[in-house]
Amino acid sequence: MRCWCALGGIALVFSQGEHHPKKNIVVLLADNVGWASVGFHKPPELPEDQIYTPNLDSLARTGIQLERHYTYKFCSPSRSSFLSGRIPFHVNTYNDDPTMPGAGVPIGMTLLPEVLKEAGYATHFLGKWHIGMASASRQTPKARGFDSSLGYFHSNNDYYSMVRGQGCGVAVDLWDHDAPSRLNGTDYEEEIFCIRAENILEKHSTTLHPVFLYYAFHSSCVAYNETTGETNLQPDPSWYAHFENIDQEDRRKNVAMVAKMDECVGRIVSILKRRDMWRNTVLLWSSDNGGAVHIGGGSNVYPFRGGYFNNFEGGIRAPALLSGGVVESLSSAPRKLDGVIHEADWYATFAGIAGISRPVTDDRAAQLGLPPIDSVDVWPLVTGSVDSSPRVEWPLTSLTEAYGDPRTANYGGDAAYMRFPHKLLVGDIISQAGWCGPIHPNTSVSWNTFDTTINCSWSPAEDRYGCLFNVIDDPSEHNDLASTMPDVATELYESLVMAQTKYFDPNRGQPDERACALANRTGYWQPFQE
Ligand SMILES: *[C@@H]1O[C@H](CO)[C@@H](O)[C@H](O)[C@H]1NC(C)=O
Ligand SMILES: *[C@@H]1O[C@H](CO)[C@@H](O)[C@H](O)[C@H]1NC(C)=O
Ligand SMILES: *[C@@H]1O[C@H](CO)[C@@H](O)[C@H](O)[C@H]1NC(C)=O
Ligand SMILES: *[C@@H]1O[C@H](CO)[C@@H](O)[C@H](O)[C@H]1NC(C)=O
Ligand SMILES: *[C@@H]1O[C@H](CO)[C@@H](O)[C@H](O)[C@H]1NC(C)=O
Repeated sequence: MRCWCALGGIALVFSQGEHHPKKNIVVLLADNVGWASVGFHKPPELPEDQIYTPNLDSLARTGIQLERHYTYKFCSPSRSSFLSGRIPFHVNTYNDDPTMPGAGVPIGMTLLPEVLKEAGYATHFLGKWHIGMASASRQTPKARGFDSSLGYFHSNNDYYSMVRGQGCGVAVDLWDHDAPSRLNGTDYEEEIFCIRAENILEKHSTTLHPVFLYYAFHSSCVAYNETTGETNLQPDPSWYAHFENIDQEDRRKNVAMVAKMDECVGRIVSILKRRDMWRNTVLLWSSDNGGAVHIGGGSNVYPFRGGYFNNFEGGIRAPALLSGGVVESLSSAPRKLDGVIHEADWYATFAGIAGISRPVTDDRAAQLGLPPIDSVDVWPLVTGSVDSSPRVEWPLTSLTEAYGDPRTANYGGDAAYMRFPHKLLVGDIISQAGWCGPIHPNTSVSWNTFDTTINCSWSPAEDRYGCLFNVIDDPSEHNDLASTMPDVATELYESLVMAQTKYFDPNRGQPDERACALANRTGYWQPFQE
């Protein structure tokens, strides 16, 4: 790995303008963006002027649309999975308070930025962290392999003051690498991150290092409202004004926030192109999970069922695409790729792109008895050199969630297992079991998604075999096959029971008062342990 750096140094001396031979990796992870909330998935019934993602649409036209990019059904597990290369079941399935010492990814697991840094990459993080913050030397982005970082630790904060209240404290949540950031309250938060992204790419030495940028947008997630202590959508005023033709407030705000995110995608692409970095770049854009379709969320996952918080396709089949010059020049592009990809698979895939010999392992984690990497390299699927995906089955959510786990009481209530093309859901009350219309939310019907529930209990003695769907033949999950295919349902259930023996669910500790004491004293959330 070191020799690339040395070679890069020589290249700088002898041939100004030669780019580093390794490919740049740019990951743009949006928050709670629904399937139908991007232009390239626009339902025909939705007027053209009520959705605006021209930059993503353009990348989708020339790149590879990922038709089956699966994530966890909500935030922290999804980020934990992407960065650790484990399925959430083997790293973290909770949206824990980050002041809990064990929140997020266990410190013994080696994260993707560490792997890429070792391979000679300049590594940068922006936006939502949400995988643990207690220890300065072990849990901050800096401690986990990023050369620079600017972001927040909680699930969200106020887009204007960057204030966040949780547990025992209320304080600003904005951290600049190894100290509180003074940028709180100076601009709209997404704009602050976007400007930092532009600066990073503008200043990046293309000869010395390839770049790995992981920008986890705040948009289009709701915010913590400093005034009310509740959450609400907080679009920036100019994009909000742009959509005066949308009569439904939540949808108008959400569309405006997605448009702001898209604007920033465009600004990043434009710098990469101007600096001639684009031709050597692989860019992944995805949502971290399905759309927040509930009241106050404003997102739309039409034609899928469910949404953010549950294991219906609307909650876990995220809008996503691959782009960058490297992808655009593949003979397999442009196209829609149907092969299954799990977000954990980027770990091995990007390691391969970075020239690391496969398979990737995590020796440090192994020594500590932590679960191994699950990631499989999907690059051959992307390039078209293989037709079928190596990713076929995985446990989605623990069985404990089917029977009223209080830590996830509002998070869907569904245990689930995927084995293509079948998916089994198990739970006595699975919430958000309905469908968005092509225009959602709308003013004709106000629909509280949590009022629509389904009983997918597992009770073979009563001929109840959960809920079973064929997600290829029936992507909208209208036809429950459990009673007609009880044998398939039983196989999937047994696989889930088997997977349960490897479910990683350590004691993560309690929210720590020291975090609040420090936040109260300094005005900023920050690590409170060495
Ligand atoms: C916070 O909530 C108050 C009361 O609803 C509202 O007036 C204010 O605009 C909200 N703040 C933001 C940034 O949306
Ligand atoms: C779901 O169905 C099972 C089996 O019929 C039943 O025992 C259980 O009470 C039902 N749960 C709810 C919440 O209706
Ligand atoms: C409006 O919303 C309702 C409730 O979600 C939905 O049933 C209906 O299909 C929507 N209308 C359109 C045109 O999408
Ligand atoms: C922090 O301040 C809040 C009120 O602003 C208070 O309720 C809480 O007890 C304080 N926590 C600590 C640990 O000082
Ligand atoms: C930033 O946060 C600090 C600590 O809470 C506060 O003292 C300061 O006034 C804030 N800055 C702005 C511009 O709001």
